[in-house]
Amino acid sequence: MAKPRIQFICQACGNVTPRWAGKCDACGAWNTLVEEGTAGGIGSGPASLRSPRKGRAVALTSLAGEIEDAPRIASGIAELDRATGGGFVRGSALLVGGDPGIGKSTLLTQAAAALAGRGHRIVYVSGEEAVAQIRLRAQRLGVASSAVELAAETNVEDILATIGEGRRPDLVILDSIQTLWTDLADSAPGTVTQVRAAAQAMIRYAKSTGCAVVLVGHVTKEGQIAGPRVVEHMVDAVLYFEGEGGHHFRILRAVKNRFGPTDEIGVFEMGDKGLREVSNPSELFLGERHAKAPGAAVFAGIEGTRPVLVEIQALVAPSPLGTPRRAVVGWDSTRLSMILAVLEAHCGVRFATHDVYLNVAGGYRISEPAADLAVAAALVSSLTGLALPADCVYFGEISLSGAIRPVAHAQQRLKEAEKLGFAQAVLPQASEELGSGIGSGSFQAAALADVVVRIAGSLRRDSADE
Ligand code: TYD
Ligand code: MG
Repeated sequence: MAKPRIQFICQACGNVTPRWAGKCDACGAWNTLVEEGTAGGIGSGPASLRSPRKGRAVALTSLAGEIEDAPRIASGIAELDRATGGGFVRGSALLVGGDPGIGKSTLLTQAAAALAGRGHRIVYVSGEEAVAQIRLRAQRLGVASSAVELAAETNVEDILATIGEGRRPDLVILDSIQTLWTDLADSAPGTVTQVRAAAQAMIRYAKSTGCAVVLVGHVTKEGQIAGPRVVEHMVDAVLYFEGEGGHHFRILRAVKNRFGPTDEIGVFEMGDKGLREVSNPSELFLGERHAKAPGAAVFAGIEGTRPVLVEIQALVAPSPLGTPRRAVVGWDSTRLSMILAVLEAHCGVRFATHDVYLNVAGGYRISEPAADLAVAAALVSSLTGLALPADCVYFGEISLSGAIRPVAHAQQRLKEAEKLGFAQAVLPQASEELGSGIGSGSFQAAALADVVVRIAGSLRRDSADE
């Protein structure tokens, strides 16, 4: 028999090297190489590679042909079903990632109970918590009487034997993938080899039986699913459960989905009785508005296919420092520098002697460039001390030339704003016809300078009134 060879695997990127080093050559991460054996099993690749056999011809087929809709099991929790694209797909594997303590186990316990309530057989396997702990959580969530079948187990072979008994489950939840280990790999649980092997075994189970499998994964500080980034490529869908420290709302975001859209989000609020669905996120992010305060602008955004209104708050204050401070929460700081530069260069608004703070209300994170215009409006409003109209929303992308560029879904954004009682909008010049309602009360700006003039104009109007 071949002597077991020792190899080192980077726990961040999965790169294999024969020698240990402080830094991974492939991804540059420090202290991530871990010794993992290769004697037989997973680490050494398929056994067939060692004794090559003659291949078997498979039937080739055409692109056209019968297609079946992915058979789904919907949980009835609308926000969860929206993020998965209509429910868990039978025979598929789904990875739910998120920071520790964000509420993954809570979400899946609630989903399990909801599905069991609809007559599905659900098995919840926890490798992190004892049965008593899970029962306590279920009590707190008010689902203790549901028919979910529970086990505290970490060995993949034992789990497969357990769920192989009796009626085939409709959904198996494994909490978490980092705790699982299989006899086939001889590394410690949580290492890349183990996680990959365990995930592979569970995915194979899903494909061969038609049961849906949910894997839970913890994310590291860098935002990667700890070590097992590799799992992301193996599963059919990846959902991230996110939230901002100190805030109660949670967002379930699809980042990969072989059976549905990837830009959908589900919004929840964590309470003392578990997660509550938030079907109208705008109300959450607009909750604590104080009308007539300078520096606040409402951005009409889009998340996936759903409009979300968020308040953007800016504070511009004279700086005692030679290099003024710029601090951003919930938005991109490079983008803020760009907006400040455009305001200085094209609109004659100076921030060089001022500290600038920008905050997105409610702990929400915006990644859309369409927020540029709302940010610029909030900045100018704070600098001049002029409050923006409380019933006005802003959206539009700002280019380096100071022009305002059109963004997608203008109609939808306006419709949501109108629904929430807004009467005005500042938006890019659109080629499409804007419908009635707020569309007619809107200001279509071609350049950022026009918007600045409009905000400053309210000063003249105010002083004329007096
Ligand atoms: P949990 O689901 O255990 O997180 P994860 O599985 O992602 O690590 O959630 C833990 C946190 O959620 C914990 O800080 C307590 C809080 N929580 C509530 O606020 N309300 C509840 O009803 C439950 C069950 C948990
Ligand atoms: Mg957990």
